[in-house]
Amino acid sequence: MEIQKQLKSHGAWIGKWTFILAATGSAVGLGNIWGFPYKAGTNGGGAFVLIYLGCILIIGLPIMISEIIIGRRAGNSPINAMKKIAIESNRSSIWQLVGWSGIFAGILILSFYSVIAGICLNYIFIAFTSNGLISSPDQFSSVISSPINLIAWHTIFIVLTALIVSAGVKDGIGRMVKILMPMLGFLMIFMVVYSMINGNFSQAMSFLFAPDFSNVTSDTLLQAMGQAFFSLSLGMGSIMAYGAYMPKNQNVVNSSFTVASLDTLIAILAGLAIFPIIFAFNLEPNSGPGLVFVSMLSAFNQMQFGQLIGPLFFILLSVAALSSSISLLEPGVAYLSEEGVLSRKSSAIIISIFIWILGLGSAFSFNIWSDFNLIGNKNFLDSMDFLANQILLPLGGMLIAIFVGWYMDKSLIKSEVGVTNSLLYRMWRFFVKFVAPLCVGYIFYRQFF
Ligand code: PHE
Repeated sequence: MEIQKQLKSHGAWIGKWTFILAATGSAVGLGNIWGFPYKAGTNGGGAFVLIYLGCILIIGLPIMISEIIIGRRAGNSPINAMKKIAIESNRSSIWQLVGWSGIFAGILILSFYSVIAGICLNYIFIAFTSNGLISSPDQFSSVISSPINLIAWHTIFIVLTALIVSAGVKDGIGRMVKILMPMLGFLMIFMVVYSMINGNFSQAMSFLFAPDFSNVTSDTLLQAMGQAFFSLSLGMGSIMAYGAYMPKNQNVVNSSFTVASLDTLIAILAGLAIFPIIFAFNLEPNSGPGLVFVSMLSAFNQMQFGQLIGPLFFILLSVAALSSSISLLEPGVAYLSEEGVLSRKSSAIIISIFIWILGLGSAFSFNIWSDFNLIGNKNFLDSMDFLANQILLPLGGMLIAIFVGWYMDKSLIKSEVGVTNSLLYRMWRFFVKFVAPLCVGYIFYRQFF
């Protein structure tokens, strides 16, 4: 009855594919196409990629299953879901803090995410208004050097995000992802084929897949793990919130496998599209956050129909970013509207204003604040990224694993996964109870103690 009520207030997904597409839409975003290649590039390639894949499999996947179980069982937004399941399992309601930390992480992430997505929008605009995107090799520097410019596009992106979230999950989110996610997949494959033919594919392959562990430090481990959480949208409640709208008869484990595989596939494809071009043009693989914005332009510049494919690429990247950003805003908005404090629309507006203000710092970190370091030697944007991805998401994920593995009532878990005597179930249980928390704990320990 309670669940019915919640589903009524937020709406629910219709059909099995909507959940998969929405969760994939959340997972696939700037993290895959902008973040993964540049982080692999700055961390030496192969070894980072291998550790990343390991983290997806042994930490990410078990935690994704756990988040969906909690979300769907509770039928609430993450804060209330954690509270409700804790109480139903006769545990302290303090577990709701995991939900709060997730909302905080979502705000931090969206603040810089929106600035980067704004750059994509700006590229599209340039493509259609001036002589084309590719007119100058310094396109990226000219885009990021103006704070007003970055802020304008950051504003547009936040407004778009808030509009879709205000419309609610069913009409706003569900409809959009159905058409655009498959399009993105096709374009990525096309880009890889192009790079294969025209770029230095073999050098890219050995850069991405021949691991050299000699330079792996505790920082590499932390970054790879943070990237895995970020890319799968885990540890902050996005997947939990979407799980609440998942139909009861849908298989949690299979759906998680599908989402995690698609996400990983897109990240690898992005690497295979970008690095052959980097090497063919003698660009530096470790150039940082500008990587995709610089390298892809070089490709479009040379390519036949580049003037058409270039804008299309940035349109799809913006859409991928939008289908992720809405999932970053959703947990907070769902909570406020669920509590009845504010309507969905007002909640979306108020949280977005906060995020917008925080985002100014990230916009400035490309220009007037480029010398200002917030945490260690990290500028404002990198500090937000570090705090959220490398601290809050893994911490949240570890607590979720511990909660499901050790504290959540088994009968509640059973009601969500069905069989509990299969090998797959027992493996999952082992991973959430021991492997995932210990791995996160170990990586934290090595880096911080
Ligand atoms: N997974 C998204 C991406 O790869 C970002 C994201 C992180 C979305 C956390 C929701 C929650 O771009």
